[in-house]
Amino acid sequence: LTQYNTMEDAMDLLRKSNNIIVITGAGISTSLGIPDFRSKETGLYSKIELHGLSDPQEVFDIGVFREEPGIFYEIAKDILPSTDKFSPTHAFIHLLQERNKLLTNYTQNIDNLEVKAGIREDKLIQCHGSFAFASCVKCGYRVPGEAIFEDLKAGRVARCPDCGSNKRKRGASQNKGKNKRSSGGDSDDDEEYDIPEPGVMKPDITFFGEELPHLFHDRLTKHDRDLVDLVIVIGTSLKVAPVSEVIGYLPSNVPQMYISRTPVNHINFDLDFLGDCDVVVAELCRRLNWDLEHEMIPKD
Ligand code: OAD
Repeated sequence: LTQYNTMEDAMDLLRKSNNIIVITGAGISTSLGIPDFRSKETGLYSKIELHGLSDPQEVFDIGVFREEPGIFYEIAKDILPSTDKFSPTHAFIHLLQERNKLLTNYTQNIDNLEVKAGIREDKLIQCHGSFAFASCVKCGYRVPGEAIFEDLKAGRVARCPDCGSNKRKRGASQNKGKNKRSSGGDSDDDEEYDIPEPGVMKPDITFFGEELPHLFHDRLTKHDRDLVDLVIVIGTSLKVAPVSEVIGYLPSNVPQMYISRTPVNHINFDLDFLGDCDVVVAELCRRLNWDLEHEMIPKD
């Protein structure tokens, strides 16, 4: 049995580990002004007007979205990435990557700021998707996320620009799910008809009731589980499965570190650093003599 309990132990683990899994949540973006979900006074769920829902989480329920997309659109502006800036904690994960120590960053965040921080695609699993793209729930037509940002900001339900064109050649519906319009021109039957209503656009974020991206399971089970030598969990309450189950799924001899403001009771970590994650990672790097470059870290 090994017992870890000091900053020295954490530094030692960081020095010697070369295949680190970093699991992140909303807490790594709060210093940028993006609210988390469950913090008592500042979290999104404490602020959401219930709109008749019994639980604020239902805003992200796929069944509720299908019935009444307007509820999601009303609150989405509060979680829409409003910045391209990334936090010192994002910079820390990037630093692990640059030092060839990052195996994978599993993020639950949908702000896409890991990409802005330079985390490579092959090192990043966006477990709950992101606002980077949006798709039509009816025909699957996919657009870059920015295309619906104006609607999101205005709290207006975005409609599909593809199945939304109101006059279409018969046969166009056969293109269902394709990212292309029908050329239609050489169709035998060129009778036109009205499409009743264009589909609603949904950001490609994983709602409750939807599957996580396949890459999440594949990478975890077929690749990372055998390689991982350290787990660092940062800024998440670990309340949402299956991400919360990753820690228990990894071999028990792999050391696990938790960095967050609020302790968790349902999982025992080998090392807990309770506090502001930007401060904790900056201090670890300072002591390790690793140059964590970020404008929000005061120079002394
Ligand atoms: P939570 O809001 O549940 O947890 C964020 C955690 O980060 C809390 O424990 C905070 O105390 C902590 N925290 C906040 N700011 C911090 C800071 N600056 N430094 C250190 N810790 C800080 O958010 P998640 O765990 O990410 O799903 O939530 C998981 C999922 O639940 C989300 O991905 C979202 C939500 O429903 C979907 O939207 C599908």
